Amino acid sequence: MAVEQSRRDFLGMAFGGFTVAGGAIALVAMKKTWDPLPSVKMAGFTTVDLSPMSDGELRTVLWRGKPIFILKKTKEMKANEKRDVVVGNANYTVIIGLCTHLGCIPTWEAKTSQFKCACHGGEFDESGVNTFGPPPRPMDIPPFKIDGAKLVLGEEGPEYKKLTAKA
Ligand code: FES
Repeated sequence: MAVEQSRRDFLGMAFGGFTVAGGAIALVAMKKTWDPLPSVKMAGFTTVDLSPMSDGELRTVLWRGKPIFILKKTKEMKANEKRDVVVGNANYTVIIGLCTHLGCIPTWEAKTSQFKCACHGGEFDESGVNTFGPPPRPMDIPPFKIDGAKLVLGEEGPEYKKLTAKA
């Protein structure tokens, strides 16, 4: 009887152990399923090193499927304290490169320092402010953070908050 009892205890403990271990494994598996894939996590942010850019250079990077224009302004270009991203002693225009009329992608014309939209003739100045044609407002500034000489798109840093508070 005593032997039978302890055998039952042993089986009970063994099953209990399996259940706890099984539960833990299942929880780990569920967490893996719920967590976003590393590629999804990474897709939210785009880091751009601004240090190699020269004055007057325009770079286009893709962020969350949208074109982002980054223009390093020259000394001759108008500064815009409500929109310029200041890194070191340089001013940058950082905008979502989609026309605010119907969403075409404007092109940069260095000669006249303008973004021009071929769809309906809309024009924007070097800060992305609408100056002519049907676009109803300036091009949008994407959320960003400054990290040394790097621009991190997708994160709302204090510089972005300051700009949006001024706008
Ligand atoms: S979409 Fe750019 S002017 Fe119409």
